[in-house]
Amino acid sequence: MSNNQDLLPFPDGVSPVPAAKPVNVASVPQYSPFRYPGGKTWFVPTFRRWIQSLPGKPEVLIEPFAGGGITGLTAAMEGLVRHVIMVELDAEVASVWQTILDGNAEWLANRIRNFEMSMENAKAILTSEIVETREKAFATILKNRVLHGGILAKGSSFIRKGENGKGIGSRWYPETLAKRILRIAHYADRFTFIHGDGLQVMEEYAENSCAAFFVDPPYTVGGKRAGRRLYTHHQIDHENLFSLCQQLSGSFLLTYDDTEVVRELAQRHAFGVGKVPMKNTHHATRHELVISRDLSWL
Ligand SMILES: C[S@@+](CC[C@H](N)C(=O)[O-])C[C@H]1O[C@@H](n2cnc3c(N)ncnc32)[C@H](O)[C@@H]1O
Repeated sequence: MSNNQDLLPFPDGVSPVPAAKPVNVASVPQYSPFRYPGGKTWFVPTFRRWIQSLPGKPEVLIEPFAGGGITGLTAAMEGLVRHVIMVELDAEVASVWQTILDGNAEWLANRIRNFEMSMENAKAILTSEIVETREKAFATILKNRVLHGGILAKGSSFIRKGENGKGIGSRWYPETLAKRILRIAHYADRFTFIHGDGLQVMEEYAENSCAAFFVDPPYTVGGKRAGRRLYTHHQIDHENLFSLCQQLSGSFLLTYDDTEVVRELAQRHAFGVGKVPMKNTHHATRHELVISRDLSWL
């Protein structure tokens, strides 16, 4: 049965398109073992729409600021692109991707399953000197789960009360984490991970018209503090990043917080700007910007 209301004329100036609502993140498959500050799980439905709007399936998706990698994971594991290159500068985050993708996923999954969670045990791991990559990966996953907001950068503090007063272990779901890690490893041949500078990798692929770029840098434009507090590596030359995007033969999608400086940067580079709604941790709705050459799919 058709809904006649859909056909009613709208008064002048009122759009028949319902205002976009923020995505319920619980409806998005969570493939990443990270709870990543500034993570883009909420953006996944918009990302899917963008990537599927491109003419032909991209040969490769480059994620130059991978972090928790939810977009790259979604793209590869849902077959939206043939291959994903994830780039991350942070050595701790890198150790996790290297361990999962280089044949040590099972070791990591078991290390997580066998860890006995307590403040004392967590502190012992987080204060120890670690050299081995896979042990560093374990310590990073642990740190991401026991520190406030999953923030790995210096100055972050331990969860104390945690969810429902469950304390230090309130975000520690060993079986779920182990399963996510093993699942990613199952698709390992769809990924290349590079521990390095995302801008450099973008430059290397600038002339590849079969590459697509999902670009989610730390939000530090105009001295904004959020990105500084959240990430160890937060210094980005945003002007240079925009210029680099202009030189790309392939399609790109940039995400940023909504500020005048960012809008001005986009305008100066003749890019389109759109708004996507999200709910922040306090359940208030706010918007982030998407920036690209073509936003007709939005
Ligand atoms: C906004 S976060 C990305 C979050 C990611 N989209 C997610 O959903 O988890 C930005 C990331 O860029 C990383 N980063 C900062 N500078 C970088 C650089 N030059 N090259 C690669 N990664 C960098 C930070 O360590 C951080 O993990």
